[in-house]
Amino acid sequence: MRHFTCVNDIGDLKEAVKKAQYVKQNPYADSALGKNKTMLLIFFNSSLRTRLSTQKAALNLGMNAIVLDINQGAWKLETELGVVMDSDKPEHLLEAIPVMGSYCDIIGVRSFARFESKDDDYSEKILTQFIKYSGRPVVSMEAATRHPLQSFADLITIEEYKKRERPKVVLTWAPHPKSLPQAVPNSFVEWMKATDYEFVITHPHGYELSPSFTEGCTIEYDQKKAFEGADFIYAKNWSAFADPNYGKVISMDKSWTVDKAKMDLTDNAFFMHCLPVRRNMIVTDEVIDGPNSIVIPEAANRVVSAQTVLKEILLNL
Ligand code: CP
Repeated sequence: MRHFTCVNDIGDLKEAVKKAQYVKQNPYADSALGKNKTMLLIFFNSSLRTRLSTQKAALNLGMNAIVLDINQGAWKLETELGVVMDSDKPEHLLEAIPVMGSYCDIIGVRSFARFESKDDDYSEKILTQFIKYSGRPVVSMEAATRHPLQSFADLITIEEYKKRERPKVVLTWAPHPKSLPQAVPNSFVEWMKATDYEFVITHPHGYELSPSFTEGCTIEYDQKKAFEGADFIYAKNWSAFADPNYGKVISMDKSWTVDKAKMDLTDNAFFMHCLPVRRNMIVTDEVIDGPNSIVIPEAANRVVSAQTVLKEILLNL
């Protein structure tokens, strides 16, 4: 593996899960692998889990980790090509990226969709410039369209908790007051499609994800029907994809909040969410605090997914 930006980079999923299970059981077995290697974590957006879990993964592998918040202490970066730089952004990505690359061996980048241009977001304008100009392996720590470290952790978690070989997994939209990217659901769809699970997506009309991700998926607009017999409920909010509403909140319908009555329709399903989660918008206290909520072990597996990915990259440096 050179870069890690999507499910295709991980190779065979069953093998990847086996490697992750080994990493989880033997977290310090490869502590010499990253000796004298430096991981640089670049954040254009806020983070709790990704920031901590990716650092922890790098440290477990014996690497040094440096974190830079672009919007707190670094120069504001110009990202447009060919512009006259007379705005408040004194440095261009074209210099900043190779400079950052010269200080490290692996770069992690978090860069959300900006919702200014669907084309810019869906061409992964920032992430691709890091791949092009850093000269280093690049790990997506959530980009405009995907969050692969999260999806890999989700898969590891489902494999740990599943009670049958081919569980029914349901991705459900749920309400939220702010406009959120489509990266987590896109990515989850991509990873679930690569398994042999039964997979259903449910959301209100108008919240269809990009067909480039959902092609071939079962989409059920009746949330209660989708929940029937489910083994895992994966809740997430996302903003609209379709024009002219790209990036907008078009509904905050609280009837889509995941509550106990809906969970009772499932086959005693586990509740999952990538976090952070808005309680009593996305999910009721009763469900997230209940015995079938696995959001904490899911988040803990972010160290495992990151460490498995970083190990593979280190082995190929
Ligand atoms: N799930 C996730 O990526 O969390 P953070 O945004 O806190 O990193």
